[in-house]
Amino acid sequence: MRHGPTCACQVDDRRIPPWFLDNLLRRLVQPPRRFLARHLSAGDRVADLGCGPGHFTVAMARIVGDRGRVVAIDLDPRAIDRVRRKAARAGAAEVVEGHVASAAGIDFVASASLDFVLAESLLCCMTDHAGAMRQIDRILRPGGRAWLSVMKLARADDPRSVGQAEWTTLLSQMRVHRRGEGPFSRWALVSPARRNAESPHSSGQSELAPPPGNISSPW
Ligand SMILES: C[S@@+](CC[C@H](N)C(=O)[O-])C[C@H]1O[C@@H](n2cnc3c(N)ncnc32)[C@H](O)[C@@H]1O
Repeated sequence: MRHGPTCACQVDDRRIPPWFLDNLLRRLVQPPRRFLARHLSAGDRVADLGCGPGHFTVAMARIVGDRGRVVAIDLDPRAIDRVRRKAARAGAAEVVEGHVASAAGIDFVASASLDFVLAESLLCCMTDHAGAMRQIDRILRPGGRAWLSVMKLARADDPRSVGQAEWTTLLSQMRVHRRGEGPFSRWALVSPARRNAESPHSSGQSELAPPPGNISSPW
């Protein structure tokens, strides 16, 4: 059966076992700090949406430091519990605030309040892609950036999957700095298109480096 807006069936957002997302092998293959250091600075206010057990969250807290803030959000209470414990062990309990919530319903995060949003493999685990994108657009400050990635492995008729056409539609509502695609995932670095244009920091010139290209791996 194909799922769609009128589909009566209920498909839950996907929860992934914490051990699968947070382990030594992944830390070796995807070292979080090396990736994040390109996007974050000390004092930044950031969000890790669909943070899972915190593969990136504590590294984010270390980079933004005591003057910064990391809002960690996941639908799965086990993940947030693990993030809170990891943050406490790392001495970053005051920097990381964990919330059990859907990324499509985070009205408790103030509008235009964040410098950076990480949504790594989030959209492809949930059904309300447009709702999550609206929130990302809303919570980023002018000129703020979001890293989005989706896995390509899900079945096309799974309402959580983000196919090429939908990915393009979702990105068309943002300003795309870079995008790329590998065998298993698609990713993009974006800003809110509307507010970026209104940014008081905008010089009228593109702050972007290269035009959107297709790069196979962000790592
Ligand atoms: C593939 S995992 C990625 C976790 C983390 N970003 C990482 O890279 O390790 C997707 C995460 O999204 C969470 N999730 C699924 N639906 C969600 C929703 N609607 N809102 C927030 N988180 C959600 C899952 O619980 C899971 O932890």
